[in-house]
Amino acid sequence: MKRIELNSYGIPEDVAHCVDTADVGAPAAGEATFEVIAFPINPADIGFCRGTYRLKPPLPATPGAECLGRVTAVGAAVTNVAPGDLVINLQRENWTQKRHVRSEDVIKLPSDVDHQQAAMLRINPPTAHLLLSDIVDLPPNGWVIQNVANSAVGRLVISLAHERGLRTINIVRREDVFDELKTLGADIVLLDGPDLPARVKAAVNGEPIMLGIDAVSGEATGRIAACLADGGAVCTYGSMSGENPLIPGSELIFRGVSHTGFMLGRFLAKRSAAEIEALYAELYKRIMSGAIYAPVDHIYPIEEIRTALIRAQTAGRHGKVLVSPNGLI
Ligand SMILES: NC(=O)c1ccc[n+]([C@@H]2O[C@H](COP(=O)([O-])OP(=O)(O)OC[C@H]3O[C@@H](n4cnc5c(N)ncnc54)[C@H](OP(=O)(O)O)[C@@H]3O)[C@@H](O)[C@H]2O)c1
Repeated sequence: MKRIELNSYGIPEDVAHCVDTADVGAPAAGEATFEVIAFPINPADIGFCRGTYRLKPPLPATPGAECLGRVTAVGAAVTNVAPGDLVINLQRENWTQKRHVRSEDVIKLPSDVDHQQAAMLRINPPTAHLLLSDIVDLPPNGWVIQNVANSAVGRLVISLAHERGLRTINIVRREDVFDELKTLGADIVLLDGPDLPARVKAAVNGEPIMLGIDAVSGEATGRIAACLADGGAVCTYGSMSGENPLIPGSELIFRGVSHTGFMLGRFLAKRSAAEIEALYAELYKRIMSGAIYAPVDHIYPIEEIRTALIRAQTAGRHGKVLVSPNGLI
């Protein structure tokens, strides 16, 4: 079987190689084996390859924070899944053709779920959902401002906020996505820039904005903070600029703006296994209904991981890069 291995940390397309390796073998008691139908290349995976992500396991290492799989075999005493079931895996190392894990680490999905969307279900949809629910209590019709609004998370924030009756101000770095984001339900779309706070204030007629969601970091975080009402909160959940978030002390001290961070694992850990399963059930219902959707730019075979990684780091993509390691989508 084939899997992606890193023999060093560095430029992703140079360090990630598709290698032939021994089959995972039969599942032990309590384990489920699945073949991987598809995995996305997320910014965190790029950071993992570079060695800048919070997890940096000993080499050789296999990346891959999420995937969609189909169960091929289960060990003794496994009752939650059976061969043929579609699953998402809560464990890592998913850039491979086959994987086995403890059966409680997989979540079963309905057989008619969209495979591409399901491959991207584990991380970004709950991230968007929890960013809107767990940071600030937002009033009905309240405003939320976010940057990287054209990212998969950003688009999900737009759809989920719209569904909840919240209004969004969406900051992007290119004009060609304005119409698409408005079609998703974005109330306001603006280009980032030094005069952002003044343009935002005018766009919302001075109404208060209590939550700012930031995944650019650097000075962009300060611009989001400056758009908030006194006492508002900025939540940083990523760093597409590669910089640390910068907020002027005056925002924190004089205006009482607070700055916090989000990591999905930390927020899921506050919930029981049953609550987590219910959250995913709720989210895949929305996928099934088409209420949430992440566009796909291109799907590659596992042997083309180099091209896939280069594409995933190319600006101006129109959606996620997926890899289909067994050619199943
Ligand atoms: N903390 C968590 O638990 C968690 C969970 C999920 C995701 N995240 C983070 O969320 C962010 C988005 O992830 P995703 O999977 O939704 O991303 P994605 O779909 O791959 O999209 C990446 C986005 O980043 C934008 N971008 C790239 N470089 C940029 C820069 N220097 N300045 C401004 N924008 C830039 C791109 O803009 P264009 O469209 O213009 O190319 C694109 O919209 C990432 O930082 C990721 O690490 C965090």
